Amino acid sequence: MSLLEVEELRTGYGALPVLQGISFAVEEGTTAVVFGLNGAGKTTTINCLAGLLPVWGGEVRFDGQRLSGRSAKAIVEAGLSLAPEGRRVWAGLSVLKNLELGAWSRKDRRGTEETMQQVFGYFPRLEERKDQLAGTLSGGEQQMLAIGRAIMSRPRLLMIDEASLGLSPKLAQTVFEVVSKINDNGTTVIIVEQNVGVLPYADQALIMEKGTLTYDGSGSELERSGELRRTYLGEAVAS
Ligand SMILES: Nc1ncnc2c1ncn2[C@@H]1O[C@H](COP(=O)(O)OP(=O)(O)OP(=O)(O)O)[C@@H](O)[C@H]1O
Ligand SMILES: [Mg+2]
Repeated sequence: MSLLEVEELRTGYGALPVLQGISFAVEEGTTAVVFGLNGAGKTTTINCLAGLLPVWGGEVRFDGQRLSGRSAKAIVEAGLSLAPEGRRVWAGLSVLKNLELGAWSRKDRRGTEETMQQVFGYFPRLEERKDQLAGTLSGGEQQMLAIGRAIMSRPRLLMIDEASLGLSPKLAQTVFEVVSKINDNGTTVIIVEQNVGVLPYADQALIMEKGTLTYDGSGSELERSGELRRTYLGEAVAS
């Protein structure tokens, strides 16, 4: 059994359908990367998995349990956590407060403190700036905080939307390396990315196009296949 099983998932906004019935699975302990052009439905997919959008049809199972139809809160409690697109940190609150609030679903104070130290280990910059208001952090620091906050609930599956958007190549690399450490420590990861520099860290790669999945395979195969060039550069590839 895979940790996450998505079957014929459909959702959209109001009367507008976006996901046309997508199916994929993610194995425990792996990192999956979701590529695709702007508007392909990447954010819609992970927001729907996080319970922020209603499931119109199909099913989501996590560790064998049905998640579809559960509230966003119940989904965090089940072990899925999202670092949303656009680094939505609480601007008027300190770094520390943002991290503490990320742990709202936990009762174990000591364990929460340990996770906080772990986050500071991943991102020393956040510890240096723990009393600073999140809204005054640089874009890259806010991205670290969004990821750190998502880790605070100690998820089994961490989903990160646009991990490297707007980051310098060097900082993007740093974020990928941290994500890879988080993964090594046992957390399953789904990253939405446009930066193909993430590929060496990906066990599994998915490509979305217009609300459908057009590729689901290993990261290393994708690197060789030419599918990425076709998707992003519109190149014809011989198949
Ligand atoms: N709140 C919304 N209301 C109506 N339509 C929406 C809403 N959010 C997204 N859409 C539409 O759904 C489609 C998929 O959007 P989505 O945000 O999932 O794309 P994406 O793959 O994450 O793109 P990007 O790379 O630009 O972040 C787009 O056509 C978009 O216009
Ligand atoms: Mg998006």
